[in-house]
Amino acid sequence: MQAKLNVNALFTLVPNKCDYTFLYVIGRGGFGRVWRAEHKKTKHQFAIKEMQKCKIINKKSIGSVMNERYLLSNLRHPFLVNMHTAFQDRESLYLVMDLMTGGDLRFHICKNRKFNEEQTKFFIICLLLALEYLHHNTVIHRDIKPENLVFDRNGYLRLTDLGIARIWKPGNDGDTSGTPGYMAPEVMCRQVHGVASDYFAVGVIAYECMMGKRPYLGKTRKEIRDQILSKQVTIKTNQIPEDWSEDAADFINQMIQRKPVNRLGFYGPDEVFAHPWFKNVDWDAYLTQSKQAPYKINSNSDNFDYKFANIKEPEDEAQAKQNAELLRRDSIQEAFNGYTYKSQNSQQTIQDQTNSKPTTSMSQQITPTKKKLLDSEPQVELKSQKKYHLVSTPRFNKKLNFTADQPLTERGQAKKHFDF
Ligand SMILES: Nc1ncnc2c1ncn2[C@@H]1O[C@H](COP(=O)(O)OP(=O)(O)OP(=O)(O)O)[C@@H](O)[C@H]1O
Ligand SMILES: [Mg+2]
Repeated sequence: MQAKLNVNALFTLVPNKCDYTFLYVIGRGGFGRVWRAEHKKTKHQFAIKEMQKCKIINKKSIGSVMNERYLLSNLRHPFLVNMHTAFQDRESLYLVMDLMTGGDLRFHICKNRKFNEEQTKFFIICLLLALEYLHHNTVIHRDIKPENLVFDRNGYLRLTDLGIARIWKPGNDGDTSGTPGYMAPEVMCRQVHGVASDYFAVGVIAYECMMGKRPYLGKTRKEIRDQILSKQVTIKTNQIPEDWSEDAADFINQMIQRKPVNRLGFYGPDEVFAHPWFKNVDWDAYLTQSKQAPYKINSNSDNFDYKFANIKEPEDEAQAKQNAELLRRDSIQEAFNGYTYKSQNSQQTIQDQTNSKPTTSMSQQITPTKKKLLDSEPQVELKSQKKYHLVSTPRFNKKLNFTADQPLTERGQAKKHFDF
């Protein structure tokens, strides 16, 4: 006998806007607002990124938002802002993510201008751990900047916004995505780029925390580009602020190298972790988040720029009419098929679960230099595997409630090479 499908029951299981109370706006993105929201049934709070379909279409970014949702459903890490659910209605897409109540690093840079070495090192370690995970999964973030780094209430920093992140593929020289000021010169100059482009931005952020300004300044993309192309910035010994170590300055100098091949991280995360600045770092204490964060978050404040988050956009009646017409078209709505998502570990059923497949093809060639590096530093490889092992231990998964659905690579299995 054929089982009868209860369409109404199925529909109620699909996540949707009515499941949440949208409390207030906490951030602003390229396609809409980010909300603090509460799941009505469980009372859990989340951040929900709302993205207007019209804006996505007008900016020709359907591929990017679908890609972000796809990546997020395959990635899970304590230093990433992880996704729980995604859904849509006729007007918008919604990404339900971990709520980070500490605000983004831009907000705190505006407030403090500079940070001390201990605080900066802590931020950079959180970021490096997130990047190590992404890079081992062949994903380049491509938009590392203070706005995309958000604090939890304990002062731990997490990476968000995979809007322009990509699984690496050869021939990416056509892409110039990113934000001037943090964008690596090879990306600005439309050259093939790899993981090293993310490390350039890490260097810029560390420099900014130390010096109170970015290494390559300018008001426009062209001005910044001219600055980068005109000379290599280096922190000289006499410019190192009091109470900062030479190791810190050396690390930053190696990260802001304009030529990717000269940049620390060109050969992957292991050479970054091996830098003397991290000599006595207890990585496990970070991964288990048992270390006290040196930068204190004010938990009585919302930690975001209320005015910026709530800017009202001017209403354009003609545009609104055109948008409404656009959204009525089935062909437009079909472009977002597969966006809705619920963790496979949950009891719920999804109507439009994506059936796209990962495209993990990448160059696996080992260059002679890289081979030398991998052969000569077994302890670095070991250290890295230890960290990975830790991430996948049941104890750790339990603690962080990890439910990776389809990891792109198995932990420990990946001995990825980074000549991409
Ligand atoms: N999970 C979160 N918790 C708290 N605040 C967040 C969270 N995610 C984002 N925000 C805030 O909202 C801002 C915008 O979010 P996000 O960077 O994801 O959007 P975006 O820049 O528009 O992304 P995209 O490039 O995909 O358009 C962030 O800079 C941050 O201040
Ligand atoms: Mg962003």
